[in-house]
This record gives sequence, structure tokens and C-alpha cells, in this order.
Amino acid sequence: MVKSVEQHYGNDGIVQRILDALTQAGHNIDELDADVLAAADEFHIGGREGTTHVAAAINIAAGDHLLDVGCGIGGAARFLASSTGASVTGIDLTPEFVDAAIQLSDLVGVGALVDFKVGSALDLPFLDNSFDAVTMLHVGMNIENKVQMMSELARVCRSGGTVVVYDVTTTGEGDLPYPMPWSTTAEFSFPEPATTYEAAGVDVGLEHVSSSNHYDLALKFFNEPPSTPPPVSLGHLMGPRMMEMRDNASDAINQGLISPVLMTFLVP
Ligand SMILES: C[S@@+](CC[C@H](N)C(=O)[O-])C[C@H]1O[C@@H](n2cnc3c(N)ncnc32)[C@H](O)[C@@H]1O
Repeated sequence: MVKSVEQHYGNDGIVQRILDALTQAGHNIDELDADVLAAADEFHIGGREGTTHVAAAINIAAGDHLLDVGCGIGGAARFLASSTGASVTGIDLTPEFVDAAIQLSDLVGVGALVDFKVGSALDLPFLDNSFDAVTMLHVGMNIENKVQMMSELARVCRSGGTVVVYDVTTTGEGDLPYPMPWSTTAEFSFPEPATTYEAAGVDVGLEHVSSSNHYDLALKFFNEPPSTPPPVSLGHLMGPRMMEMRDNASDAINQGLISPVLMTFLVP
């Protein structure tokens, strides 16, 4: 019985499963390129392609400090750090994910640019105005109180900084099938339309700059798998139950019930 968000995500042996699969596929784990992890460490619709949309929206450069809230095992944090030169702090509720994020970052040689800690998006353990930008990828579906969530993202970002949220939003009427990738049951699942996030952002004083719906990317992600499967996948992250979760998410996308939307806000 899954009693919490952390229990849904947390599981043992994540790094070992990933390394075993890479070794089996002929990779030398002492010389790993971070990109080889992309299909397992970017736990959001569109994978790396989704992260590149986030990277294009955040407006940071070398010397800046980015916070990635709900960082999972750190794939987006590592990519955003390597591609921009900024340092990135990741925070996540699930201790097993934070442990894996630290180990994998050291293994692929980007440990100096990133750091990770356990904590809640609803009570971020950082002072006001600590970061030049804040990202959150596919986390809000686990959080009921969107106003508190947006308030914390806004609080820790400096004036003039950008807050980017890339989340699964509801786009149609109808019950979602479970388990979903973000929740085993409906009890810990709070997907909302993009308008709820936008209104919450404005409520807490953010300026809503734009929202872009990436439904086409979602259709491609679920319906056109790569002809050569990558050596690691979200199955190595979440275990065998990932197959059923993925099928349910795929059905919900194809029925038009949900879609990933990227929302950009500015701190005045
Ligand atoms: C679907 S995964 C996305 C992980 C990562 N952002 C990515 O895109 O690869 C959702 C993540 O949100 C985290 N999470 C859920 N609720 C949270 C909360 N209240 N505070 C911090 N992290 C949370 C989970 O532990 C999980 O790692």
C-alpha cells in the first residue's frame, strides 16, 4: 500500500540497475557521458526534448545559480548546468532520488556544478531571493496547494529572475487511469489546468509571461518510440510497474485528457 508521494517514487537499487544496464550495453562506467542517462534521468514527457524547451525559457548563464524543485535523480539539473554553465541546486522529497542524483552526477563528472538535498517544494529550505532562476518539471501533479507551491518558487527567486514550470496539466473531462507515473492512486494526484497554475502565479505576485502547450511532443513521445531503444529507460528508475504507468499516461494523452504545458513567469 503506497501511503505517500515518497513511497510512490522511492525504491532501492536505482543507480545499480542503471549501471548494470549500461554495462550490459557495452558502456564503460568509468567514462560515462551524462547524455547516455537521458532516457532514465529525465522523468517528464518529452525527456531531453522537454528539458531543452525549459533551457530555452530560463534565461541564465555561467555564474548564475538555478534551483530545480522536485529534481528527481537530477537529469534536468545536470543538463541545465552543463548547457548553461550555471550552478544548479536540486531539491526533492524522495531521499532515494536525491542519493541517486548525487551519485550519478559524480559518476558523469559534473558533481562540481550541481548539488542536491532532500526537502519539500511547499517549504523550501532557502532564504528569500536566493536564486537567479527556478525550474520545476512535472512535480505540481503531486501538490494540491498550487498557491503555496507558486509562492515558494517566487519567494526564493530574485527580482528580475525567471520561474519556469513544465507540468502535466488537465486538458479534458474524464477520470484518469491509475497508476500514473506520478501517483499510484488518485489520492496523491492533483493535476490541474494550466489556468490554475497561471492564476496561482499571479496571485503570489508573479508576472505571467507565456504558456506553451507541448501536446505534439507528448504524442510523439508516447506513440513514436525510437527505432533503437536507449540502453536505460524510466523502467530502470521506477522498476517493472513503470510499464503500466506509461501505458496509462499514453492513453490519457491520446484521449486528450492531459498535456504538458510550459509556463514562464517573471519575478517583478
Ligand atoms: C515525475 S518526477 C519528475 C522529476 C524531475 N523533475 C524530472 O523531470 O526528471 C516528480 C518528482 O517530484 C518530487 N516531488 C513530488 N512532490 C514533491 C514536493 N512536495 N516537494 C519536492 N519534491 C516533490 C518527487 O519525489 C519526484 O522526484
